[in-house]
Amino acid sequence: MANIKYYVGDAIPLEMHKVRIIQKLTLLPIEERLKAIREAGFNTFLLKNRDVFLDMLTDSGVNAMSDRQQAAMLIADDSYAGSETFYRLEEKLKEIFRTKYFLPTHQGRAAENIINRCLIKKPGDTALMNYHFTTSKAHVTVNGGLVEELIIDAGIKEESDLPFKGDMDIDKLNEAIARLGADNIAYVRIEVGTNLVGGQPVSIANMREVCAICKKHGIVSLMDASLLADNLYFNKVREAEFKDKSILEITQTMVDLFDLIYFSARKLGYGRGGGIITNDKRLNDLMKELVPLYEGFMTYGGMSVREMEALTIGLDETMDEDMINQGPLFIAFMAEELMKRGVPIITPPGGLGCHLNAMKFLEHVPQTEYRAGALAGAVYLTSGVRGMERGTVSEDRNPDGSDHLANLELLRLALPRRVFTMSQVKYAVDRIAWLYDHRHLIGGLKFIEEPKVLRFFLGRLDATSDWPEQLVAQFREDFGDSL
Ligand code: F0G
Repeated sequence: MANIKYYVGDAIPLEMHKVRIIQKLTLLPIEERLKAIREAGFNTFLLKNRDVFLDMLTDSGVNAMSDRQQAAMLIADDSYAGSETFYRLEEKLKEIFRTKYFLPTHQGRAAENIINRCLIKKPGDTALMNYHFTTSKAHVTVNGGLVEELIIDAGIKEESDLPFKGDMDIDKLNEAIARLGADNIAYVRIEVGTNLVGGQPVSIANMREVCAICKKHGIVSLMDASLLADNLYFNKVREAEFKDKSILEITQTMVDLFDLIYFSARKLGYGRGGGIITNDKRLNDLMKELVPLYEGFMTYGGMSVREMEALTIGLDETMDEDMINQGPLFIAFMAEELMKRGVPIITPPGGLGCHLNAMKFLEHVPQTEYRAGALAGAVYLTSGVRGMERGTVSEDRNPDGSDHLANLELLRLALPRRVFTMSQVKYAVDRIAWLYDHRHLIGGLKFIEEPKVLRFFLGRLDATSDWPEQLVAQFREDFGDSL
């Protein structure tokens, strides 16, 4: 967003784009929303989109594309092998990231499958990370590996004013290497920016230190660049060294540090796909045979040619500050509006979305009754807004069957880029503020169907009392016949 000074009033984010395609939305009456969330087992993943008003589940594959991306899709070169589209994408990756090799995958977790199959060499090999993401951890453990998280202590503190809460703790990293031995470490993974601790960014200063230590010990440094776009914006505005650098310069400074990079192109590049890039021929050779085995031929890797064309342009547009700052600025706006109304959220606001702090919002609900899950159900019920539970439901159980209580209980309200207007954000804030004032009405949840792996996707829960009905009754009392 350009440098705009306002004559009167608060500075508000101003979009440097206009909307030229729209999709009609519906907002069901609250009684129908209650029916829908019950049918979905209080799991917002299982709601039907037709029952959702503002879909803030994720930004994955649902960011609005630009006119240039849509136009590029029309020139896609459809062929199983040797598609021109692939070479255009490969060239763009080389131009931006200056990496020689590119392995295409159908999405981010497919890259994680390939990386972990190749880099976890024996049972018990450990992947060190600033913080885990659900699929990145699951791919380590299904391959017999272990995960250790080395984020700075402030990273899992809900409220802070630290600019880079996603940083890795350097003392913890040195300690882990000394304790485990470099030969037992599969890789050190930096998620640039972190997802599960509230979209918190990582500083380049920290990446430099981490990658230098990896180099010294001969350990592979791995960047998960899925949330890179938001992180680049924060490097520019929060890290003094990069204030006057272009987004491309910041990207290249960062990328040069790592041995291996992978990304979900459902996030990075506003398309649908993924990939692994590197300058290391040995690593590339180790992994490349798995692309035709799991993904598809080397020149599409499970992606449609149309998506690859859109991604090529999307990556180019990611180097434009006016394109990538829309997300963080809208998120900061939403966060500030919620804070003004006393609603507990993760601070400072990061990327990806606005994260409600369910640990505090629902202090009266036991953590074993899934505070963030209950809040996801209650927010949907109250507003038709679909968020994503990022707390204990998103953790699988401990080997002894007990719940693995999450460090943070978050309800993530993702802001897919360029999709929602400010009035829609204000509506969501209004309903959440009402819900916060009536939080004592919200109760807990219990599992009634529980998958063993990644249970949050398909698991079903039920309310532990009639609290959803009580919430509906209070809504009617306060809002009359409003939707
Ligand atoms: N890494 C990070 C940091 C992610 O946020 C995701 C996906 C992945 C890897 C996996 O990529 O979905 O393309 O297979 N995050 C999505 C989300 C699902 O909603 O936050 P994928």
